[in-house]
Parts: sequence; C-alpha cells; structure tokens
Amino acid sequence: MLPKNKRMMSAEFVSKHLFLFACPICHSSMKVFELKSLVCSNQHTFDFAKQGYINLTTGQIKTKYSKELFEARRTLMTESTFFKPVVETIAKLINKEGIQVKKELSIIDMGCGEGSHLASICDLVSAKGNKKVVGVGIDLAKEGVVVAAKNYSENKLWAVADLARTPFINKQFDVILNILSPSNYAEFNRLLKEDGLVIKVIPQTDYLKELRDYFFLETEKQTYSNEETVERFQDSFRFVDSSRLRYRVHLNGPLIWPLVQMTPLTWGITDKQAASFLEKESIEVTIDLEIMIGRK
Ligand SMILES: C[S@@+](CC[C@H](N)C(=O)[O-])C[C@H]1O[C@@H](n2cnc3c(N)ncnc32)[C@H](O)[C@@H]1O
Ligand SMILES: [Zn+2]
Repeated sequence: MLPKNKRMMSAEFVSKHLFLFACPICHSSMKVFELKSLVCSNQHTFDFAKQGYINLTTGQIKTKYSKELFEARRTLMTESTFFKPVVETIAKLINKEGIQVKKELSIIDMGCGEGSHLASICDLVSAKGNKKVVGVGIDLAKEGVVVAAKNYSENKLWAVADLARTPFINKQFDVILNILSPSNYAEFNRLLKEDGLVIKVIPQTDYLKELRDYFFLETEKQTYSNEETVERFQDSFRFVDSSRLRYRVHLNGPLIWPLVQMTPLTWGITDKQAASFLEKESIEVTIDLEIMIGRK
C-alpha cells in the first residue's frame, strides 16, 4: 500500500467531519470522492491540494497578502515570544468560559493566516482542558493556507474560503476566533453553537508603535483608533468580557526583517526606508491588543 500523502490525509479528515460542510455554491451536503475532491449533491466539485488543504472558493482570488508576509509572520511567531501571551490568554479564556465541561470542542479561525495561532490555541486547550479539539482554519489568501497546511495537520482542516460566505452548516462551532482579520458577524452568528464563544482580537493604540513612529511620523497611519470596531462587536454579540494585553518583545537582528515583512502596515514604505530600519541591531516592539469575548 502507498504511504498516505497530505492530500489523502486531509481528505480523510474531511470525510470524518462531513457533517460540518455545506456547498459554498448551492449549500447542499457534500461527500468526499476518491480522497481527491469534495463534491456536493449538485456535482459542484472542489479538489484537495497536494499540500493538504482544500480550496472552497469559486474562481481565482488574488489578495495583497503574500507568501513572504505569511512566512515572516510564522518566523516571528515560532522564533520569538511575539504572540505567546495572546494565545495563552485566549486558551485560558476558552477553558474558563464554561466550555470546560465539553469533552470535544470545535474551533474555527476566521482569517487564520499562516495558522500558528489556531494550532497553538488548540494544543493549549487540548492539553489544559484534557479534551479533543478539532481546529478549522480558513483564509481567503491561499498563500497563508499553504503555510498552515504544511506545518500543522493533526486534527486540523485548512481551507481557502471567504469568511463572509463560509462552506459550513449552521451552528457547528463552539469557538470562533477572529484575530487581526476582517469580520462578518452575520456569518459568525450563523456558524456559532447556541452556547458558543466569539473571540475577536483587534489592535489597540500602541500596537507595533515602533514601526508606526519610524515609518509614518505625523501621518494618519501613525495613530490608530478601534472605537468603531468595538462598538460593532458589542452591537452584534452579548458582550462577555474584554481585556487589553500590552507588553514589549525584544527582537534581535535576524528577526527585524521578518518584523518589517509581517504586517500590512509597511506596505507603503520605500526600499530606502526599509534598509535604514534594518541597520538596527535589535529592537523592542510593543504588542498592544484588545481581546473581546462575546456570546449569542
Ligand atoms: C493581518 S492578517 C491576520 C492573519 C492571522 N489571523 C494572524 O493574526 O496572523 C489578516 C488576514 O485576513 C485575511 N482575510 C481578509 N479578508 C478575508 C476574507 N473575506 N475571508 C477570509 N480571510 C480574509 C487575509 O487574507 C489575512 O490572512
Ligand atoms: Zn453545490
């Protein structure tokens, strides 16, 4: 027998979780065909990719998020403590907020990027809460989903999909994560179980302020307000809690280029500006985020 490849493993995982899926075109139920594709009852067909993910969008989608951005994000997340306090706080919240009684949990990350936050949160919830956790990560940027599928496969499903029109059945998820990504609250409400949690992470005023100060002094990119985002969240969900997490991370030389590359904030800078920033030997960078929790 041939050894299983990533495409087959992903197709097998989907076969065991078919109850989650609805065709993104006609919303009918879906089946896995020959461990190669996911097909709905009206024959809309989506192929599993050899890297171990499935593309559930219709048509080619090109976003501004590049492979380099997601790889830089992954480097920072895995080689520094950049997001460690964030994923630890979220895992604790999930275990605290009444979900500890469940033996099995489903967590979906809307706009998962390179997947490391979902993977770390699932691991922590599973280890601390002693439960089986199924993680689903979706992102519109194929470049992010490819990096995610390459690095994390255990109990995970990665899909290229639009968070505003997801390929899933109503009320299937215990936790919806939405970290530094756009939202669609009608869709989040549709997917959330009655007792589920929505956890949204948004930047606070000092997030990456060292980059803003250096590249955008006295321009509107230098400052940031999230007031409107907070209000919209509070209008859409029963507000459970909100906490601000603010800390500084020391990054040494080799991590400065990934820092510049990992954020859309630097999309407008020139090569000259980037080169002068790279002359630094190390940097202290501020992480300042708001973690909001809501229920239906
Ligand atoms: C700043 S990145 C954050 C990624 C990841 N959550 C993280 O914190 O590393 C924003 C992400 O939102 C994704 N995104 C934007 N619009 C989307 C949509 N309509 N559906 C799914 N993902 C989307 C982008 O492709 C990108 O990966
Ligand atoms: Zn269909």
